Formats: sequence, C-alpha cells, structure tokens
Amino acid sequence: MEKGLLLAIETSCDETAAAVMGAAGELLSDVVHSQVEDHRPYGGVVPEIASRRHLEAVCPVVEAALDQAGATLGDIGAVAVTQGPGLVGALVVGLSFAKALASALSVPVTGVNHVHAHMLAPFLEERHPPFPYVALVASGGHTSLYLVKGFLDVELLGQTRDDAAGEAFDKVAKVLGLPYPGGPSIASAAQDGDPGAIRFPRAMLPGTPFDFSFSGLKTAVITWVKRRGTLDEQDVADVCASFQEAVVDVLMEKTRRAARAAQVGAVVLCGGVAANRRLVARMEEMVHDESMELYVPRPRFCTDNAAMVAFLGLCQLRSGIAMGWDGDAYSRAVW
Ligand code: KG4
Ligand code: ZN
Repeated sequence: MEKGLLLAIETSCDETAAAVMGAAGELLSDVVHSQVEDHRPYGGVVPEIASRRHLEAVCPVVEAALDQAGATLGDIGAVAVTQGPGLVGALVVGLSFAKALASALSVPVTGVNHVHAHMLAPFLEERHPPFPYVALVASGGHTSLYLVKGFLDVELLGQTRDDAAGEAFDKVAKVLGLPYPGGPSIASAAQDGDPGAIRFPRAMLPGTPFDFSFSGLKTAVITWVKRRGTLDEQDVADVCASFQEAVVDVLMEKTRRAARAAQVGAVVLCGGVAANRRLVARMEEMVHDESMELYVPRPRFCTDNAAMVAFLGLCQLRSGIAMGWDGDAYSRAVW
C-alpha cells in the first residue's frame, strides 16, 4: 500500500463486516452486522439467506466503517477482502464489491484467507504473541491447529475430519431445543450441570495426533438424549456440561501435544469457540503446566470481523501480494 487507508471487507459466513486501518496498522473503525437473528429459526446458517443479507448489508456496513473512521472513499489506498474459505455465495458478494470498488478507485485489492486472518487476530491487541506459536482456530466452520512462524508463514498441523467444534455445539443445542447459536446456549446451561455426569467419548485419533473428529461425540449425545426420553432441567444442564467438557478436553489436549511437538513458547486460541470460558480456563491451566503463554483475542476479534482481515491484508500488501481482477472465491482452505 503506497498511500491512504486500507478498507477491509468480510462476508464469508453470516457476518457482514467492514473495517478501516491506517498504513501503520492502527484500527480506525470496525463494523460488524450479524445475521444471527435471520438464521435462528432454522437452527443454523442458511447459505441462500446469508448471500441475500450480505447483498443488502454490504453498502451500509462499508459506509458506516468509513464514517466511523472519519474517512471518505477518496482516502482509501487499498482494499482487502476475504476470498475463502466459506460459503461461496456469501464470499462472492464481498469479493465482487471489493473488486468493483478497487477498480473504480484505481487501487490494489488483496484476497485474504479467513482462517489465516483468525490466527493473526491477537495482533489487533496490545499484547502480541512471539513467533513461532501454535494457533487453535475453533469456530462454526473450522477446527484446526497451525504452526505460525511469521505473519505470512503458516503451516497446517491438523484439522477436523468431520464437524467443526462450533458446529458440534450448534447441532447438540438443536437436539436439546436450545437457541442458535448453540455455543453460548450450551455454555450457559452447563453452568448448572455436572461435567462428570455422563462420560461422552473423546476422539484422540492416535495415528493423526493433531486431527479432530467431533461427529462420534455428537452422535453419542443424540443417542443418550433419545434413550432418556424426556429430559428435566437438570438432565439438560448435565448433558451440556458433560458435552462441553468432552470438547474442551480434546481441544486442550491436542493443542498441548502440538505446542510440545513444535517446541513453541506461546499458544493462540481464536475463532468463535474461543469465547467459551471453560475452554479458556482449561487452556490457561495447560499453558501454565507447560511453562508457555496463552493469547486469546477479545471476543469481538475472536468471532468473524473485518479488523483481522485488514491486519492480514496490510501484511500481504506490504509484501506486494495483490489479487488479479480474475481472483475467485474458494469454499475450502487451500492448505
Ligand atoms: O468464528 P465464528 O463467529 O464464525 C465462524 O466462522 O463460524 O464462530 C461461531 C461459532 C458458532 O458455532 C458458535 O456456536 C460458537 O462459535 N461459539 C461458542 C461460544 N460462542 C460462540 N462455542 C462454545 N462456547 C461459546 N461460548
Ligand atoms: Zn470465522
């Protein structure tokens, strides 16, 4: 980026977001419009609805981000946009908008990997992790472990073979009749439950120690609920606490193994599931035992946002990485 401000746009799932960042990395605005109310009746994200809502929201959200930054389009020197992974119909809205705007302004546009942006989110905070670090990205769409050696030097260590951790929270909540998104609903119900009440399975996958699988756990919960028949309030609290403990055990233990194997001194926890207080507490214990440091961005930077897209976009533009006008959206991670 030679001059001006960076405008970042995020539309990969169910948040329409825009942010403005200065050339030195200072965050000038950060606007997120969540569609959670539109998807709640369906118990999950409906891709067609997501695309339509992005189309409606993208102009007002970008305008709000410019306003908050006290900027106009003439101040924009570059555009960063999430290119993937995510829902293609949703990504295309942000990508087309970003390319059209960059073309009209005659400024460069850079395409950002959403998962990569999540793992750099701690750099939006004052306290930065030292390289190299191990990052656990746990959200509704992804559960993966990465070795982050530099801003643009990232290695995939392992990922989920089936459901993402957040997706498992959302599906279990649906079975229990708890509102979407399931993560906060289950975490709240779990407060009155006993995490040791029901022993649900923990898939440790010894052959691939850094991969995850949550579908067996999800099925075990559904089977338990069906066998039980009617559940009283205490049953629901116990299922939630026991399920949450099983997910947390696996996420924590695999992160420990990855961090030990990579011999890093720092662990980053990011993505929407990082908002889970039980997970953060257990991770804190783990890093303490291992003499490592834990970095968890504030909840706003853990869930989907455009500030993290701006940060990675700025790193890419400084290294001369821009996207051609034919840059296309991709649904799955490229690593
Ligand atoms: O990162 P995010 O906002 O969007 C995606 O990229 O998916 O993550 C949303 C996911 C949802 O599955 C939601 O249930 C989960 O994060 N989540 C939580 C909590 N808060 C949100 N999971 C567990 N505990 C929470 N407190
Ligand atoms: Zn995300």
